[in-house]
Amino acid sequence: MTELSGAVVLVAGASGGLGSRVAARLAERGATVVRAGRAGGALTGPDAYVADLREPTGPASLVSAALQAHGRLDGIVVAAGVVAFGPADAVADETLDELVQTNFLAPVRLLRDGAEALAASAADGREPFVVTISGVVSESPTAGMAAYSASKAGLAAFVSAASREFRRRGVRVLDARPGHTETGLADHPVAGTAPSFGAALDPDAVAERIVTAIVDGEKDLPSSAF
Ligand SMILES: NC(=O)c1ccc[n+]([C@@H]2O[C@H](COP(=O)([O-])OP(=O)(O)OC[C@H]3O[C@@H](n4cnc5c(N)ncnc54)[C@H](OP(=O)(O)O)[C@@H]3O)[C@@H](O)[C@H]2O)c1
Repeated sequence: MTELSGAVVLVAGASGGLGSRVAARLAERGATVVRAGRAGGALTGPDAYVADLREPTGPASLVSAALQAHGRLDGIVVAAGVVAFGPADAVADETLDELVQTNFLAPVRLLRDGAEALAASAADGREPFVVTISGVVSESPTAGMAAYSASKAGLAAFVSAASREFRRRGVRVLDARPGHTETGLADHPVAGTAPSFGAALDPDAVAERIVTAIVDGEKDLPSSAF
């Protein structure tokens, strides 16, 4: 069991459908939640910070803000992300940049920039963790979503390798790969139009499953877990 009471957890993408639900559940279980969104998002309050994660310095600024406010960091949940739709042979440069910067580079930098603080948490006897949300597309890259799938598969590969390194420092890193979830993400793509997905997962159930995995010490959350 990972004790959330008193833990300091940074949730990036806390204004989003999944991030807001995960943040609320972590807080209900006693965690101090540092919520991050980008300018224009709906986050307010003392522990809310603004950073555009496309900026290379965005992730480090959030880690610094959490450390400055609370003196330590015991967990990171990366629920920031964007989606794009459209044929692979017509994807625009701006779309590629935004997908790679937001879905791949930002979580990689958050892991890197939070590593030292998380290792310190482990050295203090806590059970620090990181959760990324790559999604089912990293297991099953999807036609019409090639660039999105690739940005997420790259993240899943990084986490798979990095989790073995982090484990040696007492930090658990897991990637969650839910299928299509009714958060509204597909209604505001950075390019293209969503296809008809059929049945969607319930965002409350997906968020609850992620928090259960954190508390229970699970090491991976494949699509079959949702
Ligand atoms: N919904 C699904 O079907 C599904 C399935 C599998 C995986 N996922 C993944 O789960 C994560 C959360 O998705 P969601 O469904 O909760 O989507 P969402 O409701 O659209 O939330 C996305 C979050 O990402 C933030 N964000 C986007 N670009 C950002 C940037 N440049 N800098 C900082 N924050 C940024 C948004 O902030 P703003 O509010 O400021 O825009 C928002 O908080 C995403 O990575 C998504 O790919 C979603």
